[in-house]
Amino acid sequence: MNLKAAGLDQSKYALSLPDDISPRILNISDLKALNELRRRVVSGQLAHPDCYRKEAESPNFPASHLEPALADIHGVICGLIDATGQLVGYGSLSFALPDVPSRADVLDIPADERPRIGYLSSSMIDQNRQGQGLHHALIDWRIQLCTALALSHVVSATWPGNYRSWKHLTAHGLRGKKIVDVAQGLQRTVFHRDLRIPLSEREEAQVTVDIFDIEHQRELIDQGFWICRLLHNGDQALAELCLAATNNALICGQEA
Ligand SMILES: CC(C)(COP(=O)(O)OP(=O)(O)OC[C@H]1O[C@@H](n2cnc3c(N)ncnc32)[C@H](O)[C@@H]1OP(=O)(O)O)[C@@H](O)C(=O)NCCC(=O)NCCS
Repeated sequence: MNLKAAGLDQSKYALSLPDDISPRILNISDLKALNELRRRVVSGQLAHPDCYRKEAESPNFPASHLEPALADIHGVICGLIDATGQLVGYGSLSFALPDVPSRADVLDIPADERPRIGYLSSSMIDQNRQGQGLHHALIDWRIQLCTALALSHVVSATWPGNYRSWKHLTAHGLRGKKIVDVAQGLQRTVFHRDLRIPLSEREEAQVTVDIFDIEHQRELIDQGFWICRLLHNGDQALAELCLAATNNALICGQEA
């Protein structure tokens, strides 16, 4: 992974951020602030405990992602800093490591393309800065980093009920292509976008399913559908499913 050539200098990337927010790739000196933000969000700011499970993280995260100078770097963490110097949000990008299992393994990505996967592995925004486009900006930044690093695939996984997060992935062209069972009876929807295929038209939704009707979503995915958008119907949150694109003619809309 040639991080130096790709350039971790955030000024290379066009990011839409509030004026008082500075983007910066975090390093090991940010570990304390990062842990403090993560503790604050997980202990008191989650809409539901299953929205973020620290036990599902890879071993040694986030420290493993904070030393971009290392040759065997596991990933990088994009950080957002406010005018007082406080870290208010982050998003991590993890790289595929040889022989290390990943949520991407359930997707039909050929083995020789596995090193070309960028994994949007974790993201949190402090509650008092939510709703200002910071998460959208972090997804965008990490996708731009994937392109700069010549990665072909962007993958991410969320709890199906965490629609505040996954709706943003779909807005950036990722599609829910598998629902898998993970430890402790939890499920994860695995989202994917092939960066080599340009985004084009917004695809027509064929079916809408309550986001908590996971078995129905799974059945539809098995029949050839992808989760393409979130729809609100009053208080109900619905997943919109569209027919999977075929013959490389990906039809996904960017609504971010
Ligand atoms: C899920 C989470 C990351 C979302 O973060 P966020 O910063 O509030 O998200 P954003 O501000 O980017 O988007 C929220 C809304 O603000 C809107 N918004 C407001 N100002 C905006 C601006 N200037 N630019 C773009 N969008 C803006 C967006 O349109 C968006 O609406 P949408 O959800 O309909 O797309 C955050 O709630 C969080 O940290 N949750 C707890 C941890 C978690 O669940 N992490 C994800 C685990 S998979």
